[in-house]
Order: sequence, then structure tokens, then C-alpha cells
Amino acid sequence: MLRNTHSGYGRVAIAFHWTMALLILFMLALGLYMTSLPPTDQTTFELYQLHKSFGFVVLGLAACRLLWRLLNPSPSLPSRMPAFEKLAAHLGHVGLYALIFALPITGWFMVSASPWGIPTILFNTWPIPHLPVPAALGSAEEAEGFFKLLHEYGAYLLIALLVVHVAAALKHHFIQRDETLKRMVSTAPARAESS
Ligand code: HEM
Ligand code: HEM
Repeated sequence: MLRNTHSGYGRVAIAFHWTMALLILFMLALGLYMTSLPPTDQTTFELYQLHKSFGFVVLGLAACRLLWRLLNPSPSLPSRMPAFEKLAAHLGHVGLYALIFALPITGWFMVSASPWGIPTILFNTWPIPHLPVPAALGSAEEAEGFFKLLHEYGAYLLIALLVVHVAAALKHHFIQRDETLKRMVSTAPARAESS
């Protein structure tokens, strides 16, 4: 059961969801931790490089995941769900998708704009080119500061959305006792439609 059906998620969507959930939580924790360390330490430098490398893994996975989502039916939300809740769920998912692209991209622009010009070498192996930074953003420091702000507030927005996302998943499971959480864990609800 690789593909989604109208009643549930297939293996591929489930694998994307949980692999990326773990990676993103790790990236948020690493980002907050590394920025609290003394900036000139060698360990801080290495953690920044690790953060950048895994950030590109998130970007690659996000692109594949979006493609997969567009090529698959999306499971419908419970029919008893009020229209505004359906809209909120939909907007929440769009917001999460937007941020899993926006964070790596603003991070990429930030390091590209930086006057330090530190290269990004994925896992010390594959060099990633710097992005062209629009001159309208001012000096290198100003452009770096701009993307740093977007990256930081993007991360806070992602944390806030995730709190609501997880609370909604737990409410569905423990209070409404429907299949919302189950279908992101097992392919049984997806199979129910095809049987
Ligand atoms: C960094 C963490 C997470 C991100 C970025 C994330 C993102 C998403 C996105 C974009 C969707 C929409 C479905 C899709 O197209 O793939 C989704 C669905 C879902 N997520 Fe998460 N999620 C995260 C963590 C969690 C956690 C920790 C839980 C559970 C406690 C959870 C429970 C669910 C459930 C139950 C659905 C299915 C909703 C439905 O059937 O409509 N997610 N998630
Ligand atoms: C899912 C992907 C990512 C997440 C969730 C994430 C999250 C974070 C967080 C929470 C911080 C700390 C915010 C602060 O207090 O300033 C941070 C900082 C940082 N991130 Fe990311 N990040 C991601 C991807 C990337 C990528 C791809 C790059 C670069 C290629 C990058 C470069 C940086 C840098 C250089 C900082 C330090 C900024 C400073 O010195 O204040 N990040 N990130």
C-alpha cells in the first residue's frame, strides 16, 4: 500500500511525514542550541555546518514529498468535521509545507549573503553554490541580517504551528476518537477503501 487513497495515507506519505518530523525537530533544537554557544569555538562551527547539511536534506525531502502529495489523492477529512475546522486543518498543512521550504531557503540565502563567505559543503563532501542575493537588500551585513530575521521568525512560527498541529492530532485521537492519527501511523485506513 504505497499510495494514498481517499480514506488514508499510504506507506510513502507516512514515511515522509515521520522522517521529516524527526529531522525538523532535530533541526529546530540544533538551531536554538548552536546559536547559544560561543561563536568562535570550533564545535560551534562544526554544529553550524551540520545544521546547514541537514537543512539541505530537509529541502530535498520537502521537494520529493510535495511532488508525491500532488501525484496522490489526499485523504478526506472526517465528514462530521465542521467546515471551519476543515479549513483550519487545510491552512495549517499549507503553512507547514510553506515553512519546510522557507526555512532551508532563507538559511541558504543567509549564508549566501554573509560577508564571511563561508562555503557550504554538504556533509564535508558536496559543495553547494551560494545563491545570488538581490542588491536591493543593501550591504552584505544588511542582507544577511534580513534573511537571519526571516529564518528566526520562520522557526518561531513553525514551532507555534507544530504545537497546534500536535494538539489537534491528540484531540482527534483521545477526545474525538476518530482515525486521524491512526491513518498517519498505519495504512489500514487507506486499505479500507480499496477493499
Ligand atoms: C516537525 C514535525 C511535523 C511536521 C512538519 C508535520 C507536517 C504535516 C503535514 C504537512 C501534514 C499534511 C499531510 C501531508 O500532506 O503530508 C501532516 C499531517 C498529519 N500530522 Fe504532522 N507534522 C509534524 C509532526 C507531527 C506529530 C508529532 C504528530 C502527532 C502527534 C503529527 C500528526 C499528524 C497527523 C495525524 C496528520 C494527518 C492529518 C490528516 O489526516 O489530515 N504530525 N503533518
Ligand atoms: C528545516 C530546516 C531548518 C530549520 C528548522 C532551521 C532552524 C533554525 C533555528 C531554530 C535557528 C536558531 C534561530 C536563532 O535563534 O537565530 C537557526 C539558525 C541558523 N540556521 Fe537554520 N534551520 C533550517 C535550515 C537551515 C539551512 C538550510 C541553513 C543554511 C544553509 C541554515 C542556516 C542557519 C544559520 C547560519 C543559523 C544561525 C543564525 C544566527 O547566527 O543567528 N538553516 N536555524
